[in-house]
Amino acid sequence: MTDVSLGMPQLPAPDYPADVRARLEADAKEIIARYPGSRSALLPLLHLVQSQEGHVTRTGMQFCADMLDLTTAEVTAVATFYTMYRRKPSGEYQVGVCTNTLCAVMGGDAIFEELKEHLGVGNNETTEDGRITLEHIECNAACDFAPVVMVNWEFFDNQTPESAKKLVDDLRAGGQVSPTRGAPLCTYKETARILAGFPDERPGVVEASGGAGPASLIGLRLAKGETAPARVVHPRGEAPQDRPQPGSEHLSSHDAPQKTSASDPENPAGPVAEEGE
Ligand code: FES
Repeated sequence: MTDVSLGMPQLPAPDYPADVRARLEADAKEIIARYPGSRSALLPLLHLVQSQEGHVTRTGMQFCADMLDLTTAEVTAVATFYTMYRRKPSGEYQVGVCTNTLCAVMGGDAIFEELKEHLGVGNNETTEDGRITLEHIECNAACDFAPVVMVNWEFFDNQTPESAKKLVDDLRAGGQVSPTRGAPLCTYKETARILAGFPDERPGVVEASGGAGPASLIGLRLAKGETAPARVVHPRGEAPQDRPQPGSEHLSSHDAPQKTSASDPENPAGPVAEEGE
């Protein structure tokens, strides 16, 4: 194997200890058996090796290559493409602040800046205690709860700089922290094992898994003929606001059914006749 950048031979990756390798091989075979073609198992296998060390190491990539009869170059190409695979030692909790357009204007940029200062780390850096890795993330399709923060891929909706700082303080203190929707958080390694396709066997986890939040269901409710807006979801720590009384509803331009030419005979569709035609 040659390190192309240096033109120097690269040492082979060290192997796992025998007991670790035997355990991972058994898990890997279970994953591979789910697919008609073994190489389809690469993504969950990368999560599996990430559950061992908290990031994807050269040893992990060599393991995946061995199990799937791929080259390490093929494995590396995939592992470096997806941001869910970490390439360096990182924290127990991956705290991602969405800074895409909607979250950014709703406060995501401010949250990210304040967390950087509060934690004393920059983007993709880890706190000295090894608990938190901070990063800014792209849209996670939860714009109706903007601004959102994700911890180990679980959602924390409608955040503020204050609620986000309390969130990371709670994580560093080691207490149990629950996302807005879903089961209490587990560590990054535990999350990686679940993402590899192994069941989450924590007691009560199924009951805690929530469905879609009210903001996501407004369109469905309108389609069913309901007109009352969904209950307003407030940032953590703020008192919820009761549903408005009938007659006082104000649907935003996003929520209200808009007139179309079919439902608005005063404005029919079709080409506008030129004067004199
Ligand atoms: S812009 Fe943040 S979740 Fe979509």
